[in-house]
This record gives sequence, C-alpha cells and structure tokens, in this order.
Amino acid sequence: MTNDVSTHQAEDDARNEDILIWVNGALKPKAQALVSVYDSGFMLGDGVWEGIRLYNGRWTFLDEHMDRLFEAAKAIDLDIGMTRDQIIAAVLETQNANAMTTDAHARLMVTRGVKTRPFQHPKLSQRGPTVVIIMEHSRPKLPRPIRLATVPHLRGLPMTQDPKLNSHSKLNCILACIAAEKAGADEALMLDVHGFVNTTNACNFFIVKKGAVWTSTGYYCMNGITRQKVIDLCRANDIPVFERNFSLVDTYSADEAFLTGTFGAQTPVGVIDGRQIGTGQLGPVTERIRALYKTLVGG
Ligand SMILES: Cc1ncc(COP(=O)(O)O)c(C=O)c1O
Repeated sequence: MTNDVSTHQAEDDARNEDILIWVNGALKPKAQALVSVYDSGFMLGDGVWEGIRLYNGRWTFLDEHMDRLFEAAKAIDLDIGMTRDQIIAAVLETQNANAMTTDAHARLMVTRGVKTRPFQHPKLSQRGPTVVIIMEHSRPKLPRPIRLATVPHLRGLPMTQDPKLNSHSKLNCILACIAAEKAGADEALMLDVHGFVNTTNACNFFIVKKGAVWTSTGYYCMNGITRQKVIDLCRANDIPVFERNFSLVDTYSADEAFLTGTFGAQTPVGVIDGRQIGTGQLGPVTERIRALYKTLVGG
C-alpha cells in the first residue's frame, strides 16, 4: 500500500524544475547537476549531509547546522575541504542564483568524493570531496495528521553507525519507513535497543501527557536541532518538558504526539499502530509550541 502523506511532503512548485544546483563550485541546471557513478556517496553512502531551511531571508539555526556538519565530517574522517564560511557562502550563492527569499529548503551534501576503483576502501576516494547543494522552493503540506507504525528496525547503539550521524547511508531508516508503509502508516516509529520509544525514521518524536511534553533521552536518535529548540522553548515558556525513557503503553495513551524536523517544524501525529492519539487532530500544546517556534524562526 502506498500512502499519500509523508513528513517531507511539500506543495507542488513548478519553479523547482528550473532551479540551479551547486555542484563543486558550479551552478548547474537540474538535468546537468550530476555526480560520477564512482562517487563515494552514490556507491557506498559514504558522506554526511544537513537539511536547512530559509524563512524570511534567514537560514535558520545555520551555526548549529554547521557545527553538526563539521562534527559528523570529523567523525567519519572526511575533510570537507572548505571552511564554514565557504560553505555558508556557497549556500548564499545558490540562494541568490535561484532568487529565493523565503520558504526554501536546502540539502547540503558532502561525500568522500570520486573513487579510483569501485570498492569500499576510503583510500580509493581520491578526487573529492563532492559537495552538492540542492535548494528547492518548499512549503510543507500536510493534508492530515501523520500516521505512525512501530517497526522491528531499531535505533542502534553508537558503536554501530551512531544514529547521531547524519550519514548518506540511511538504509536502516529507509527499511523502517518501508515497513511502516506496508503496515498502512506514513512513517515509522522506532524503538531503541531497550524497547523504549525513540524517534521516527526521519524526524524526532514527542508526546504530550497531562500538559507535559516528553521526548526520548536522546541517546539513540539524531540530535535534532528542531528537537533541541522545542525543548528550549518549553523550558523558556513554563511548559514542563522531560527527556526520559518511555514505552508504547505511555505513548498510546498520550493526549498529543508530534514530530520535529527542519523540513516540517512540528508535525502532528494522529494515529500510532492503529490507536488514535488524543482527538487524532492537532492538539493545543502542539499548536502552542508551533506558534512559539514560528515566532522564533520568524516564519
Ligand atoms: C533521522 C533523523 N531524525 C531527526 C531529524 C531532524 O533533525 P533536525 O531537527 O536537525 O532537522 C533528521 C534530519 O536530518 C533525521 O535525519
């Protein structure tokens, strides 16, 4: 079964057919924005990336995204070959070339580059890195609250491809998403190695119970920038917030649930494993957090 809703669904925008894509310093039309079949990212998922969003002329939380990108690159021993300022300049160059002023989303990707032979060893990646910025006009579009299904795919321990790495190899998350779709849901709810509710395949996960906001301890999920901003907003606005272990029993009986991510900000969850969450609609606490976040990002 294929569903018509995902957390990364945007309004159709014909302008996206004519965007220019930044590929290693050159701005290319979509059809010519290509990388080699020997590229480490294509061949092995060997790279790291960030998703960033433009609201009213400002790239939101760019410092935090640069921190995470450089942290991930260092962790996988990948020399980006550009400074933070050069990366930011490339983002601005792409934005200007596309005459974008608001409601744009960019996927900033860095791979280990082009290999000399089609094998795994990183030493074979001798031309690189490959740096690409795909920037699209993007307004999230959500016809209804999202449906989640719990899947057998876990968020692993840090020594097995640390789930905090925003790596190009997303197969674990993709398999989780496929399993959720086959169960009739839009996105997967993933547990940690102890069976506690952790995150979804592409976003961080929150529940609301009796006015308090709960999210996972953060040990096994992406250290989402939106996740942290939501926690900070709750703290600053007297909304009780807890990073804690909780189970599916706690989750099904939540009053509200929502996801966070740069793309969609806060996305309400209506159903989990066939159980309606609260009214099944956007709840008052999620709505309040959405409003606080909107003010924060100037969106
Ligand atoms: C698995 C996963 N979880 C959560 C997120 C959300 O993170 P952020 O809020 O920084 O966009 C992402 C985004 O890259 C992700 O890939």
